[in-house]
Amino acid sequence: MNPLVLSDADYKTAFERISQLALEYVASVSERPTFPKITGTETEALFAKPLPEQGLGSGALDDLGEVMASVRVTGPRFFGYVLGSGEPIGAAADLLVSVLNQNVTAWRSSPSAVTIERVVVNWLAEAIGCTGFTGSLTGGGSSANLMGLAMAREARLPANECGARPGTIYASEQIHMSIPKAIALLGIGRENLRLIPCDDNFRIRVDFLRASMERDVRAGLTPIAIVGSAGTVSTGSIDPLVELAEIARESGAWFHVDGAYGALAAIAEPAKFAGLDRADSLSLDPHKWLYQPLDCGCLLYRDAEAARRAFSHTGDYAKSLVNDPVEGFAFFEESMELSRRFRALKLWLSLRYHGLANFREAIRNDLAHAQLLAGLITKQPELALLAPVPLSAVCFRYRARGDADSDCDALNQEILQRVVRRGKVFLSNATIHGRFALRACIVNHRTTPDDIAQVVSEVLAVGRECLA
Ligand SMILES: Cc1ncc(COP(=O)(O)O)c(C=O)c1O
Repeated sequence: MNPLVLSDADYKTAFERISQLALEYVASVSERPTFPKITGTETEALFAKPLPEQGLGSGALDDLGEVMASVRVTGPRFFGYVLGSGEPIGAAADLLVSVLNQNVTAWRSSPSAVTIERVVVNWLAEAIGCTGFTGSLTGGGSSANLMGLAMAREARLPANECGARPGTIYASEQIHMSIPKAIALLGIGRENLRLIPCDDNFRIRVDFLRASMERDVRAGLTPIAIVGSAGTVSTGSIDPLVELAEIARESGAWFHVDGAYGALAAIAEPAKFAGLDRADSLSLDPHKWLYQPLDCGCLLYRDAEAARRAFSHTGDYAKSLVNDPVEGFAFFEESMELSRRFRALKLWLSLRYHGLANFREAIRNDLAHAQLLAGLITKQPELALLAPVPLSAVCFRYRARGDADSDCDALNQEILQRVVRRGKVFLSNATIHGRFALRACIVNHRTTPDDIAQVVSEVLAVGRECLA
């Protein structure tokens, strides 16, 4: 018998212990500190151990408690970055995903997984008002943005057959770092990314965009794509998507929307996202605003042929021998990935378990919580709201001695570090008009109004402590 094969009893012990730990974690997630009381040296001492030559057996499971005690907890007072709260029904599905170990390459490799992923992608498109779009699940928004821009390049300045030629890409100066990264990876060249200034609401200035494109065309350059944001990472601002779509149509540029943070909020507030359905490609992240466990991103597009132009390089070894459109379908013809995890199962189970109406309500709660927080900040003379709150990201700062414009970047940096270490709430930061801001981003189905109030009380307590 292969030594890696265990008895049914041994598997049962391992699965039961892990399920028990998962249940304990879910039951206690609201009480756990948002950041563990542990230092870098202590984590090294706990986990940086030699690889054992001989197995520890079920003793290996004993250390899982330490792992859990040393995680940064995504409980109801976690408001950092843009990170969904991890819906446990989706998490339970993920265990089954690993056990089933499906490789979601093509229908022939996994009939149910491929079909479910195609169904779930259609559901997501419909839910945000983009019926008829198709696409695939990705590791996250960064890969979805990379794939969207690879499609744009193949559509406008094909490089796969002819080699790369210079072209330009336009986005606002608030764009997420995954866009310059994608442009660099695609060999388009960071120097060909035009970062267009924004208005006071952090939305791209379309007059500057037009002027920039005209200048480039006069210089003989080809505009490849306009990238709009449906929720910028710092403030949640939504670019004027209808106008961007129109400029893209007039100029022949591809229109990609980075909706990794915000697009799923169209489920609750479709009017804010007018023009989303005019994108050629659109990224969104169920592991952000559909609360799914990592990883679960998605790229939607209106023309599957454009995806095939970018990603189909099938050699004989993977070529489908059937003509049936369902049985002959292969994700690797439309994606940069070949081996792919069954990401759709958690989404399929979680969406069917709760229903779209409950997700819509959860997103509305997040939007309302963000307004609540903005209101509490505005009422506090020691705090200053630094940006409008169109979605669920709230940027603010503690102001020393009541002076909003005094230079208190260093003070707020100190406050952020102390707040995080205290473990009651978790915030991250942003730069707003060159100033250091505390930032709370609420994409969290566990959060209550009390949790929101704790953001204010913690920042006030720590701010006063720093000044004392
Ligand atoms: C606007 C925006 N785009 C893209 C991304 C990247 O998404 P991911 O972290 O899933 O790669 C993020 C992440 O926060 C984001 O906020």
